[in-house]
Amino acid sequence: MNKIILTLAAVMTMSFAACAQNKGDSNMQTENKPLVVYFSATGTTDKVARTIADVTGGTLYEIVPQQAYTSDDLDWNDRQSRSSVEMNNPQARPALKDTKLNVAAHDVIFIGYPIWWDQVPRIINTFIESHDLKGKTLVPFATSGGSGITGSVSALRKAYPDLKWLDGKLLNRVSRNAVQNWVGDVMKPQ
Ligand SMILES: Cc1cc2nc3c(=O)[nH]c(=O)nc-3n(C[C@H](O)[C@H](O)[C@H](O)COP(=O)(O)O)c2cc1C
Repeated sequence: MNKIILTLAAVMTMSFAACAQNKGDSNMQTENKPLVVYFSATGTTDKVARTIADVTGGTLYEIVPQQAYTSDDLDWNDRQSRSSVEMNNPQARPALKDTKLNVAAHDVIFIGYPIWWDQVPRIINTFIESHDLKGKTLVPFATSGGSGITGSVSALRKAYPDLKWLDGKLLNRVSRNAVQNWVGDVMKPQ
C-alpha cells in the first residue's frame, strides 16, 4: 500500500513539474520569441536574418515586393533604374506582396535590410506603415557594401518618432557566434 501511495505521489510531482515547464515554454512563444522580418534583394541580408531567427528561435518573415527587383532595377549607376527612382522619392512606397502578417504576439521585432544610398529601401517604409508596430521594440539590422547603419536608423527615428527603435547593428560578414552575442544582449531582460 505504502509503495502505491509513494508511486502516486511521485507521478503527481512529475506531472506538476511538466505543467510548470510547459507554462514556461508557452510564455516564451507568446511573449519573448522575436519576429525577424527582412527584405533582401540579392540574398545577403537573407542569410543574416536566418541566423538571427535560428539563434533566437524567432519567427522568420521575408518582406516580398509585389513586383520583384530585377538586376536592372538594382543598378545604382543608372539614375532611371527603379531603385534610383524610388530612393530619389521619399514618398515612394513599393507595394508588398502580402500584408497579412500578424505582429501582435511579438514584443521584439528585428527589421533587416540592405543599405541603399545610406538609407532603408523604401519597401521597409511600406512595411512599417502597413503594420501596427506601436509598443514593440524594433531592432534594425543591415548589410551593406561598406556603409554604416546609423544614417538609416536616424532617418527611421525621425520618420517614426512614436516607435521604439534600438540602435541596431550592421552585420556584414559576421560569424554565427557574433550574431549570438549581439542578440543575447538585445534580448536580455531590462
Ligand atoms: C540600389 C542599391 C544601393 C546601394 N547603396 C549602398 C550604399 O549606399 N552603401 C553601401 O555600403 N552599399 C550599398 N549597396 C550595396 C548593398 O547594401 C549590399 O550589397 C547589401 O549587402 C545587399 O543586400 P541583399 O543581398 O540582402 O540585397 C547598395 C545596393 C543597391 C542595389
